[in-house]
Amino acid sequence: MDRLRIRGGRALKGEIAIGGAKNAALPLMTASLLTDETLTLEHLPDLLDITTLAGVLEQHGVEIDMNGGGSEHGRTVALTARRIASTRAPYDLVRKMRASVLVLGPLLAREGHAEVSLPGGCAIGTRPVDIHLKGLELLGAEVELKDGYILARAPKGLVGAEVVFPKVSVGATENLLMAAALARGETRLINAAREPEVTDLAKCLTAMGARIEGLGGDTLVVEGVARLRGARHRVVADRIEAGTYAMAAAITGGELELVGAEAGQLSSVIELLTEAGVAFAETDRGLKVRRADGRLAGVDAMTEPYPGFPTDLQAQMMALMTTAQGAAMITETIFENRFMHVPELARMGANVNVHGASALVRGQDRLTGAPVMATDLRASVSLVLAGLAAEGETEINRVYHLDRGYERLVEKLAACGANIERLEG
Ligand code: EPZ
Repeated sequence: MDRLRIRGGRALKGEIAIGGAKNAALPLMTASLLTDETLTLEHLPDLLDITTLAGVLEQHGVEIDMNGGGSEHGRTVALTARRIASTRAPYDLVRKMRASVLVLGPLLAREGHAEVSLPGGCAIGTRPVDIHLKGLELLGAEVELKDGYILARAPKGLVGAEVVFPKVSVGATENLLMAAALARGETRLINAAREPEVTDLAKCLTAMGARIEGLGGDTLVVEGVARLRGARHRVVADRIEAGTYAMAAAITGGELELVGAEAGQLSSVIELLTEAGVAFAETDRGLKVRRADGRLAGVDAMTEPYPGFPTDLQAQMMALMTTAQGAAMITETIFENRFMHVPELARMGANVNVHGASALVRGQDRLTGAPVMATDLRASVSLVLAGLAAEGETEINRVYHLDRGYERLVEKLAACGANIERLEG
């Protein structure tokens, strides 16, 4: 398995192009199932998760035309579900790409039935889909769990209803948005997720002819339509990638311009990092980030649904706080097991004590390089950040986790002065 070798201690300087958001691209791709016309997505990132989902969609009958490899501005991809060849999403595909569960709503809305493998858990938690299923039942679907599969049927079509989400769920909001777009009558989604990736999906569905009100808010009202048409949509910038590289600038004491970053999506992150001593400046190309004078100060972070501090930046924030002045309390409220980066950071000299959902970080003068193990996508990149700042050499194993969510990470960091290389095998 490939691994990364980093020799730390260099301040990053230069610019990094921020790609299209992975967590917007995935639901946007499944939206192609809702129409027999072509959905063209621009600024699509070149990531393993995108490729895996493309495979799932192709076996459903979606023709996918990738315009060749990635470029600075991502790829333009045309997806056409002229006809649905199969409404079954098999376990061996879904287990590799749990976001495949997002085909459920569209298949049900388009074909009136779907057979989707339960995605199963992953490293960060059990990741149930009960909220998705209860919502679809409220829209009139009959849902049964059998042999590890979700069997959903709506032979007479879906009917609009009021859905109150018991907790904020990004995926459930997205599945229900897509199902409601073709349901008969009005659907009200209450306590909906407000993540920018959800809003981006709603914008794309609107371009396809859906009638959705309340974008960006926690109540979405959808007036179902008989059919949706093709459209062209540019994937929103990846706020998690931008936040990750902002912390790379801060932890190395460098200065980066994040080209294409949208500061408006990052206000809770910018506010907290500014308090810690990071300086931000919006430019006409994106966002400039540098560590202000002197050492960073420890600040507390608590993950919350958008617009709160994102759980997908929690591991990266912890890495940043390991060399700050003073202590930082990091609390994870979204997932039940998202502290697997702690023992790995500890191998590099970090002082972190986990008590349930909170981790107390006591800042150290420096970290020292060590061989460490990546466990999940965001934990992996927190180890990269630590390695960039640590004295000596850090070797990160199982970097396939990184390939799922960070496009050309080694090239982007090396171009800004990092001593980082990927070792095959
Ligand atoms: C999306 O996952 C993202 N993935 C995650 O990013 C992100 O961490 C998460 O939203 C929260 O922002 C994609 O968009 C592909 P949820 P999702 O439904 O939709 C519980 C990354 O690193 N829940 O908002 O699966 C769930 O267990 C990934 O890019 C239920 O209990 O997250 C969790 O505790 C990781 N029942 C909480 O809700 C359900 O039916 C939030 O989950 C659904 C969710």
